[in-house]
Amino acid sequence: MTAFETTAALDPEDVTVLIKGDHDSVRDLYNRYKNVTDPDEKTKICNEIIREIAVHLATEEIVVYPVIEKEFDGGKSLAEKSRNEHQVVRDLLYEIDNMSQDDPAFNGKLSCFSEFDHHSTEEEQQHLPHLRKTLTNDKRQELGREYNKTKKFFPTR
Ligand SMILES: [Fe+2]
Ligand SMILES: [Fe+2]
Repeated sequence: MTAFETTAALDPEDVTVLIKGDHDSVRDLYNRYKNVTDPDEKTKICNEIIREIAVHLATEEIVVYPVIEKEFDGGKSLAEKSRNEHQVVRDLLYEIDNMSQDDPAFNGKLSCFSEFDHHSTEEEQQHLPHLRKTLTNDKRQELGREYNKTKKFFPTR
């Protein structure tokens, strides 16, 4: 078990707990998506995943990446790399959002979910342990509250 998996000891408002929670919630949804056969249900879950990912990416960019830029050694390039990865996922999300599931190319575009998963795993291995090491508990909770507030800002559709 990596140090990061011991999140039980952390405050539920800790920003690193909230980020990991978002990642896991997308992973759960995608597993559900893969197991469901009903086309309407599949569409519903797919839309939910697209929304969750979009909100997560934007919230991180607003609340978390500026802190990484400021607090990490080499933070500027790490944040830039992360923002570029977000953009790759976002471009694919946009395509999938405007596509019918009957489109023969649709399944290929589902790669955006594995792109997101890959990016999230990297964050869990690099960003989150570093945030925990660098910031105090209070600061991480303060960021967590800001994170939740920012997430609520995005309209549901
Ligand atoms: Fe990210
Ligand atoms: Fe993330």
